[in-house]
Amino acid sequence: MNSILSQLAHSALQDEKKAKWQAPSNIALIKYWGKLGPQIPANPSLSLTLSRSLSETTLICSPSERMEVSFEFEGENHPKFAQKIESFLVSLSTEWAFLKKIKFSIFSKNTFPHSAGIASSASGMAAFCLCLLDIIYQMNNLPKDELFYIRASHLSRLGSGSACRSLYGGLVEWGQSPVDQSYSDTHATPIKMSIHPEFSQLQDAILIVSSEEKPVSSREGHGRMGEHLFSSIRFSQAKSHFEQILKGLKTGDWTIVGPIIESEALSLHAMMMTSPEPYILLKPKTLELIQLIKHFREESRLPVYFTIDAGPNLHVIYPESVKAKVQTFLENEARPLVEAIIFDEEGHGPQVC
Ligand code: PMV
Repeated sequence: MNSILSQLAHSALQDEKKAKWQAPSNIALIKYWGKLGPQIPANPSLSLTLSRSLSETTLICSPSERMEVSFEFEGENHPKFAQKIESFLVSLSTEWAFLKKIKFSIFSKNTFPHSAGIASSASGMAAFCLCLLDIIYQMNNLPKDELFYIRASHLSRLGSGSACRSLYGGLVEWGQSPVDQSYSDTHATPIKMSIHPEFSQLQDAILIVSSEEKPVSSREGHGRMGEHLFSSIRFSQAKSHFEQILKGLKTGDWTIVGPIIESEALSLHAMMMTSPEPYILLKPKTLELIQLIKHFREESRLPVYFTIDAGPNLHVIYPESVKAKVQTFLENEARPLVEAIIFDEEGHGPQVC
């Protein structure tokens, strides 16, 4: 655990406490794929916080003889999620011993299918960590100031790397970079420089090719980067993409930003396909949709680009100015190929409920 968290006073929980938070998902434009140490990213990443793809979580903590965790997901008991949260809490309890004497009752729901590459682990983990920290703050009578969000980002990162970026709205970065000395490996930071109006309120249409659970988890995927023949080249590529994309975002240049976004998505999946134990998360329909988007871009000359997370679904990224045209195109041409389309856009970050 990082000192910023262990600084918090930690006496035993005396009475029942409750917290409820909503946290958004985020889509990475520069991908985090591979770690240098425990939850330390090998390169800086950059994401867009979404507005409609959310997790809403209630946490009730009550004093208990031992740690107990129950997880109700969309009205049903979910032992797998309970297990995941329990392992996380056990890892935190080496510093926060008081966690060992709490019963954690968690109730959560998503506005999108989980484990389908829409970073549901990010919104879910961020929402849970906000609730946990909220209760710890209640125990310590602390105000929820700026440091609360930095701490929540730290905590979320320990649970699921990309979750640390879901603590802020807009464009968010995570990972050290020479671009700005304040960017950190241990928590995310909202992008500090001014972004060109062309990139304010970016749109993300999520084309759900499959909502099935993916066969290889992100945790496993990060692990396979450790022995990967191309890992150092990939990390250099991501660092350089990060520096270049910031220039494009500042000057409003889609010819810089768009190709980088697509290259990041394809490099991520190329890493999976060339890892020591290769695997493919893309589906034939994903490739069909990529061709569709490219063709539409060439024909219409509109700035419409795709990205993909660790799954088969396509995120179509475009400016607000072309929203109507792109939505009509996707309704007509993409809708017949997919399970669902979520028309999402830049969001403001988490909210207490
Ligand atoms: O946060 P994790 O461990 O689920 O990894 C997520 C990695 C990607 O979603 C593929 C990329 C990213 O930066 O979000």
